[in-house]
Amino acid sequence: MACFLIEGGRKLEGEVYCKGAKNAVLPILAACVLCPDVTLTNVPELSDVSRSFKILEFLGCEIERDKDRAHIKTDGIKNLALGSDLTSKMRSSVIFLGSLLGRFKMSQASYPGGCELGARPIDMHLDAFRRLGADVKDMHGSIRCVCKESNLKGSSITLSFPSVGATENIILASVLANGETEIINPAREPEIEDLVSFLNRAGADISIESGSIHIKGVRSLKKVSYSIMPDRIEAATYMAFAAANEGNVLIRNCCPNHFESVTASFREMGCNVEIYKNSVYIRAPQRLKAIRVSTMPYPGFPTDAQSLIMAALLRAEGTSVIVENIFDSRFKVSEEFIKLGASLDIVGRAAIIKGVDEIYSADVSARDLRGGAALVAACLCARGKSCISGISHIDRGYENMEGNLRSIGASIERISKEQDEKG
Ligand code: UD1
Repeated sequence: MACFLIEGGRKLEGEVYCKGAKNAVLPILAACVLCPDVTLTNVPELSDVSRSFKILEFLGCEIERDKDRAHIKTDGIKNLALGSDLTSKMRSSVIFLGSLLGRFKMSQASYPGGCELGARPIDMHLDAFRRLGADVKDMHGSIRCVCKESNLKGSSITLSFPSVGATENIILASVLANGETEIINPAREPEIEDLVSFLNRAGADISIESGSIHIKGVRSLKKVSYSIMPDRIEAATYMAFAAANEGNVLIRNCCPNHFESVTASFREMGCNVEIYKNSVYIRAPQRLKAIRVSTMPYPGFPTDAQSLIMAALLRAEGTSVIVENIFDSRFKVSEEFIKLGASLDIVGRAAIIKGVDEIYSADVSARDLRGGAALVAACLCARGKSCISGISHIDRGYENMEGNLRSIGASIERISKEQDEKG
């Protein structure tokens, strides 16, 4: 088991480069099932991406990978049922239910795993499949979807909450359906737009309007090449690292208009943020100012950046309040922050953070992806040497985080647990 050994207190200075977006590439890999032949570029090297390729391989796809490029041929798909060995470690495995159902009129998958962020039901996904004409059954921990007629039939589906995964699953299931599907109150995250652009380039007929998405069913999709959008949450992560550590950092290869709510919060905290076409520059003051922030569906402040901004606020001047509106259980990392000397209370959906002068090193444990990245941000500014275990969570969503951080002046090393015990 590997962990990060971090010596805090170094100012961060230099440039980092964002990779392709995890939350865009995962649904696009599921969408590949709908196309005969796909070439993707800007594919990040993440453990969740490797898991998706394992799923595609298991289904029967032919895959060639070379650095950030992947070529996927789907003619050989023969398996339509994903077992728990393939789904238990990754929430987005659920998205394959929609794409397989869309193309092969049946799909089966064990209940998905992924980050522990509280209850993560998939009722909206399954209700939507039923609305499109599928019979959906729970087969002792595995969900089986079968088209009741020869094809799915377009329908109007209203989501009670703009769920990202449900929106993606509905799009994937209805691309090849008969007639038109309308999603009312869909998620509008940039990753949804990336999925739609990919599918439209492959011959789908999808339009995004304010408050709805319209999918006109087509007969088939064609060969396609596509480059994955940059990761806005990775950009927000490096902004948080810089903000927490008096940083002076240029973040390259990002789309600043995808994370305006995040840049606005860092400005409010007293950072100087300059926006360029494909990059963002951030310079942080010695001490940040406390702020109030609430997570909301896009274009609001993203829940995925919530624990990161909390890490930056631990030493801010004054009392900050963060309200989490998307997930029930996304404050778990606060227990680890307290081990570092932070002063914070959780009251229902709110975290109240009283900025302290210093935080101190400790042995802490990552329990989810973004919480793990937030621990890195906190340990980088904690006095002394900290050890973060559970970093396999971090590897799910960040390519070479430690290399990037070292290149901007951080002291961070990946060590195996045995090495740690000996040393
Ligand atoms: C996606 C992102 C995740 C991000 C989240 C919210 C990927 C791979 N993951 O997750 O990083 O934090 O969006 O921006 O893209 N819900 C239901 N029933 C459902 C579906 C969702 O109640 O059928 C609830 C969830 O429990 C949660 C809320 O809706 O409280 C939002 O979830 P959703 O937008 O679906 O998140 P994911 O797609 O799982």
